[in-house]
Amino acid sequence: MPRHQETLGRRGFLGLAGVAGLGGAGVLAGCSGSGQTGQLIRSDLDLPEPFTVPLPIAPVLQPVSTSGGVDRYRLEARAADVELLPGVRTPMLTYGGGFPGPTLETRRGRPVVVEHVNSLPVPMVVHLHGGVVPAESDGFPTDLVLPVAGAARARPTSHAHAASHDDPQAVVTTGRREYAYPGDQPAALLWYHDHRMDFTGPMVYRGLAGMHVVRDDVEDALPLPRGDRELLLMLSDKAFDADGELVYPSLDPTLTTTPGVEDFAMEGVLGDVVLVNGAPWPVAEVDAARHRLRFLNGSNARRYRLRLDPAPPSGPGFVQIGSDAGLLEAPLEVDQLTLAPAERVDVLLDLGAYPVGSEVTVVNDLGSGSTSRVMRFRVVRAASDDTRVPERLAEVEQLDPTEATILRTFRFTRGDVGGHSGWTINGAPFDPVRMDARIRSGEVERWRFVSDAHHPVHVHLAHFQVVGRGSGGLTPADAGWKDTVDVRPGEVVEVLLRFPDLPGRYVMHCHNLEHEDMKMMSAFEVL
Ligand code: C2O
Ligand code: CU
Ligand code: CU
Repeated sequence: MPRHQETLGRRGFLGLAGVAGLGGAGVLAGCSGSGQTGQLIRSDLDLPEPFTVPLPIAPVLQPVSTSGGVDRYRLEARAADVELLPGVRTPMLTYGGGFPGPTLETRRGRPVVVEHVNSLPVPMVVHLHGGVVPAESDGFPTDLVLPVAGAARARPTSHAHAASHDDPQAVVTTGRREYAYPGDQPAALLWYHDHRMDFTGPMVYRGLAGMHVVRDDVEDALPLPRGDRELLLMLSDKAFDADGELVYPSLDPTLTTTPGVEDFAMEGVLGDVVLVNGAPWPVAEVDAARHRLRFLNGSNARRYRLRLDPAPPSGPGFVQIGSDAGLLEAPLEVDQLTLAPAERVDVLLDLGAYPVGSEVTVVNDLGSGSTSRVMRFRVVRAASDDTRVPERLAEVEQLDPTEATILRTFRFTRGDVGGHSGWTINGAPFDPVRMDARIRSGEVERWRFVSDAHHPVHVHLAHFQVVGRGSGGLTPADAGWKDTVDVRPGEVVEVLLRFPDLPGRYVMHCHNLEHEDMKMMSAFEVL
């Protein structure tokens, strides 16, 4: 069992605890083969009873201005103590002081500008995951936003070095940066998170993630649950030390120089506490009525398979109506939801099928012990319900495979990264300067993903349609427009995509964030 004594007592200025120096916190056996790729880290404090903490809902961010046809927002990233566990203060890196960050709610066709201010002690990069966004606002991993003057004073590290990554094209700003989002995409649940080169894993784990929901007229016209019967649910897993600090096995807990995690965790970091919207195994008191649940897997490495316990006495478990990038054409009845990191699923759940007084638990069949539970609904009152499950949801264009003239193959494997073990695509570690593909916008391409382990593959800018999956064919999680696809060990997955006319540099990568930081990423240029 790795104990990594050499890091004992080492603690960064961010208040980040390493794995060592934790007294009882420890590392359990690897989880490969059980539907997980990664290493479980155990918390070292008393955890709350499951289903006792109320489900929190992230606040909706208000624009600072709506003039000129553009909605402007401002969000400050800063270190803050957050109460994730009741009565425990956990130092985090946050958007706006809480976790998750505030939710942005925007409309299709209405451009949005978000000014992100960096009051963190370290550089950051903001990416809108699933957004159809021009290159200069996409958060290329070297387009750093350096801390505002003074924020980094505590640590006189040369940011110049960290800033360049030997990437002459990097656009580095100091203190703040405006990210412009055209908003020309269908209603969907997107999310924003840090995307800084080499340090995305610890930055997101420490709290730099929030949701961004896009609305449109198509969705508005459907008889779907809304208001407090529509729940945005961000799942994440974390581990805590005896003082309530998050445990993450960074090689450099200051997140300034050496990227990556200690060897034992290089397959991915798994915590033993499942959080929904930042609360451990929460409970939601709900009407006996249909609800719309929009799950986002915001975990670094954990996969989930969600199921209801008990199953509804009548009718299906879930009715899936959407996936990563928007609504499906027609609803799909499913009893379980498999979610790899960064995937989203949009489902209806008729809690009116249960008698008032019922307790309905969302369990995770890929977890064990504490991670086999996610949250609970307590059906507390009868209520009227005029929602329906529509027969048709949205017009969904099907990309035509015969139009695809270009085939690109990307092999996701463990490999050599500068003399150390890391993660590679087609044998090569990420290099922000090297363009691995030059892509003509407007053309349908076929991409083939081949993998050695579980790799949730994410492509920036272009949404895609999954058309092939090696073993056993497509799953409900492959339905509709996607931006992240779960590629399982030894599998070949094929997708069709077509890039919009937004020229510039983008990335595709594994969304297991430890893999990503250890170089499983590839840059491409859209022409
Ligand atoms: Cu969710 Cu490139 O990231
Ligand atoms: Cu993305
Ligand atoms: Cu991976």
